[in-house]
Amino acid sequence: MNPIILGIESSCDDTSAAIIKGDTILSNVIAGQKVHEEYGGVVPELASRAHQQNIIPVVHKAMKDAKVTPEEISAVAFTRGPGLMGSLLVGTSFAKGFALARKIPLIEVNHLQAHVLAHFIQESDSKHEVPEFPFLCLLVSGGNSQIVLVKDHLEMEIIGQTIDDAAGEAFDKCAKVMGLPYPGGPLIDQFSKDGNPDAFQFSKPRIADFDYSFSGLKTSFLYFLRDHIKKEPDFIENNKNDLCASLQKTIVDILMDKLIAASKKTGIKEIALAGGVSANSGLRQAFVDGREKYGWNIYIPEFSYTTDNAAMIAITGLFKFRKQEFVGQEVAPYARMGI
Ligand code: KG4
Repeated sequence: MNPIILGIESSCDDTSAAIIKGDTILSNVIAGQKVHEEYGGVVPELASRAHQQNIIPVVHKAMKDAKVTPEEISAVAFTRGPGLMGSLLVGTSFAKGFALARKIPLIEVNHLQAHVLAHFIQESDSKHEVPEFPFLCLLVSGGNSQIVLVKDHLEMEIIGQTIDDAAGEAFDKCAKVMGLPYPGGPLIDQFSKDGNPDAFQFSKPRIADFDYSFSGLKTSFLYFLRDHIKKEPDFIENNKNDLCASLQKTIVDILMDKLIAASKKTGIKEIALAGGVSANSGLRQAFVDGREKYGWNIYIPEFSYTTDNAAMIAITGLFKFRKQEFVGQEVAPYARMGI
C-alpha cells in the first residue's frame, strides 16, 4: 500500500505543507511572507515569527485540499536544514509534535537533496518521465549553485559549487546595482526578453574544475555601470533591456560552460535543473539547446516545484520511508548541512 506522507518546509521565508500518496502529489500549500519586502531581503527573526503564525493554517489547508485526515497520514517529513535556524525550528518542532501525537514515524530531510528529488513528484492526472541514474543536476537558487552527481535517490555527490556568491545572488545583486527591487532575478529575466544579449560583454571567471564564482561579475558590472553613468547619466534607463539581456547571457553561459564540461567528463547525458533560478527563461532555453547540441535528456521542473515547497520534502520523505530511515524526538535542526 502506498504511504501517505505529510511534508513540512520552513527553511527560509516560505511556510509550506504538502501531502503525497506514493509519489503522487495530493496537495502543496505555500504561504509566502510579504513582511520582508520593505527590508530588501529576508529578516530571520521576522521569518521565524511568520512561520509560527502560518504553520497550522497551512497544514490544515494541505490536509483539506488532499481530502486526507490526520489519522490517514503514515509519516511526517520535515526540512532539517540547511536554512535559517529560527525558521527551521518552527517546522521541526511542529513535525515532532505531529509525529508524537499521531505515533507515526518522523523523517528528516535535507533541503538541497529535496530540490533535486522534486523531479520525482508525479501529478495524479499526468505522469512524466523521471531522470535515470546516474544523472547530473544543476542546482541553482538564491543560496546555492552546485552541480550534483545523483547516483541514487539518496546518494548524491557535489562535483562543483560556487566559491562565493550563488547564481541567484548574482542576479539579485546586479539588479540592485541597477536600482531594481529585491529579488531582482525575475525582473532581469523579464527585461531581457526585449534586449540584445550581445549588446555588452562581461568577463567570465576562470575557476578550476566544475566550481563557480560570481562575485567578480558583480563587481565588474558595478564598475562598468559607474564608468558609463559618468558619461551618460541615464545610461541604465536608456539601456535597461540590453543590460539585463547581456548580464543574463553571461550568468547562463557561466553556469552552462561548467555543466557541459561535467557532462563531457562523466559521460552522463541525463541532465536535470533545480532550484529557484531554474525559472529563468534563458537557462531553460540553454537546456533545450543542450538537448539539441549534445543529445542530452533534459529534465526541467514545474515552476511550482522550483522554489521552496513542501512537495519536494514529502517526496524525499517517501524514499526515506521505503528505507525505514526514521529519526527520534531528539532530532534538532542544522543551519548548515551538506548534501
Ligand atoms: O530557490 P529559491 O526560491 O530560494 C532561495 O534559495 O532563496 O531561489 C530564489 C532565487 C532568487 O535569487 C531569485 O532572484 C532567483 O531565484 N530567481 C530568478 C528567477 N526567478 C527566481 N533568477 C533569474 N531569473 C528568474 N526568472
